[in-house]
Amino acid sequence: MSADRPSSVTKAVIPAAGLGTRFLPATKATPKEMLPVVDKPAIQYVVEEAERAGLDNVLIVTGRNKYALEDHFDHQWELEQALEAKGDQNRLERVRESAAMKVHFVRQGQPRGLGHAVLVARQHVGDDPFAVLLGDDLIDARDHLLEEMVRVREERGGSVIALMEVPEEQVHLYGCAAVASRDGDVVEVTGLVEKPDPADAPSNLAVIGRYVLDPSVFDVLERTEPGRGNEIQLTDALQQLAASGGAGGGVHGVVFRGRRYDTGDRLDYLKAVVRLGVEHPELGKGFGEWVDEFAAERAAGQ
Ligand code: G1P
Repeated sequence: MSADRPSSVTKAVIPAAGLGTRFLPATKATPKEMLPVVDKPAIQYVVEEAERAGLDNVLIVTGRNKYALEDHFDHQWELEQALEAKGDQNRLERVRESAAMKVHFVRQGQPRGLGHAVLVARQHVGDDPFAVLLGDDLIDARDHLLEEMVRVREERGGSVIALMEVPEEQVHLYGCAAVASRDGDVVEVTGLVEKPDPADAPSNLAVIGRYVLDPSVFDVLERTEPGRGNEIQLTDALQQLAASGGAGGGVHGVVFRGRRYDTGDRLDYLKAVVRLGVEHPELGKGFGEWVDEFAAERAAGQ
């Protein structure tokens, strides 16, 4: 996004009411969004990404047992005073970073699926286009996916989803897109299926956790019946928009070829910690040297 032009999209919704069952027992009493990736909780990376893309009005949709999220984006006066008294300016600044982020909260009430979580944001979002960022998906800060999606929305209107090519055997884990014309990495989306059986998958283009949505999606979500897993699926509402011949501006996809980590998945979470650990400004050198030694040890069969 060019720095001299304000974005047409300023609102972001981050659904964070999920139970985090893939990561039990770590997520029994701790929200999955609060799991640390090196030294920050996963959700902070996602809010930072939204801010970088010009989305400075962030709404987090929470649920039961998610108080830690609100606490993280608030001041912690006792801690701040203690750090101040010690003269620990560096930690004080890091603790204050998340409290300075403009974040609002609403509760989903009932766990009725991603589409329902987005619908809960309706009153906050109103009639503006808005982004949805799934808290599980970390997109590397060097890959400007969301900025590109906002640009596509500005150029073509409608809704924009992020797609990634995945191996065929993984398609059933994602929403999956049927696409028509391609213009570089931008595709026209003609259909969407939530977590298809491999035999029914229209392509190997998986929906990943970034969306820029036209507000017309809310009316569609109001009418969307529970689908896969008996949940109201955002994918099903977008399928309606894609199939309705341009009503609501249609749906485009941006094919993402950068670095994404699904931090709700234990293996991907470990990869994210290692990758971001070796790139960390303070820890990276020492950690990177250790990773190399460790890899050499493993290669030598020790
Ligand atoms: C959700 C969406 C799915 C999408 C995925 C991306 O599924 O419903 O369409 O592909 O996020 O991470 P979930 O992973 O929450 O089951």
